[in-house]
Amino acid sequence: MGCTVIAGAFWGDEGKGKIVSYLALKDKVDVCVRTGSVNAAHTVHFEDKRYALHMVPSTFVYDKSRLLIAPGANVEVAQFLKEVEETGVRGRVGVDRQASIIESHHSALDRSDGYLKSLGTTGRGVGPAVQERAKRSAKLARDMPELKPFLADVAEEVNVAINSDKTVVLEGTQGLMLSLYHGSYPYVTSRDTSAAAICSECGVGPTRVDSVLVVFKAFITRVGAGDLSGELSKEEAVRRGWFETAAGTGRERRSAPFDFDLARRVAMIHGATEAALTKLDVLFPDCKGVTSHDKLSKEARNFVARVEEAVGVPVTIVGTGPGALDIVDRRGFV
Ligand code: IMP
Ligand code: MG
Repeated sequence: MGCTVIAGAFWGDEGKGKIVSYLALKDKVDVCVRTGSVNAAHTVHFEDKRYALHMVPSTFVYDKSRLLIAPGANVEVAQFLKEVEETGVRGRVGVDRQASIIESHHSALDRSDGYLKSLGTTGRGVGPAVQERAKRSAKLARDMPELKPFLADVAEEVNVAINSDKTVVLEGTQGLMLSLYHGSYPYVTSRDTSAAAICSECGVGPTRVDSVLVVFKAFITRVGAGDLSGELSKEEAVRRGWFETAAGTGRERRSAPFDFDLARRVAMIHGATEAALTKLDVLFPDCKGVTSHDKLSKEARNFVARVEEAVGVPVTIVGTGPGALDIVDRRGFV
């Protein structure tokens, strides 16, 4: 029960989709609000199918979960409608009236503008759409006939859910190092990605939140331009099994070892109360599929302990493989 914010640690792609979908089934999440936009893809494996969700909240796997899109989010209507069909959630998904709309000229500009290209944006039009919103000339969900059946008052719904002791998740996107305010500017996305901003996008005040779960991955990846301390060559990344391509754009991800100093700062700014650590099995192959902390190797347990020491909060959920149930769930034990 209670309200949990899920926030990304570094440059995104930590596996928030997997963690949120696990919580959906395990904790029976009543309401989930997705923030951000189509530049992010959350990967969910469910019933032998892989979903890369740009719009629909990752708790769709639990069939009683009410799925909402935040007033601060940016909606690409065609992508939204496509995902609604793919996931079969029509009837339980809502879009806030004030969510703003990404139009085709936004993505065209994102792909043609030399400066935006030099930043390595995803080209999905999010930056130009946010610019338009800041100019107060953007279209909102309430202006779109296709969205009429989905319109909702998200702030009202989610606060009522919190008042009635429902289990609520506010699903953040990307990671703190891509935050417009706290990240590696100018190589960042077009909004703040901190836990506080996730709440703000949803219309949930800071006093209403019970936990802030920051999702780390056991190594760091980054797509797009900008510094990456300790960056490995592609050959070395492949050799270590760290080489990944992006779920949304298919681009190659750069990689680097876990950064303990940066992890401390990230946890501080998010106001983390707990942490998740995904892909531990990539660093320690003997952990693959392990579901209890005692069965992790000594080296793996040491790594978890070092992360806890850096971030100052318990690592409550550990990912040990791609499957939805490849998880060590230590909540209630640490
Ligand atoms: P934009 O958000 O498309 O404007 O891209 C700005 C920067 O954020 C680029 O470096 C992108 O690669 C990065 N970025 C945006 N969304 C994601 C994401 O979901 N995962 C990883 N990187 C992202
Ligand atoms: Mg992603």
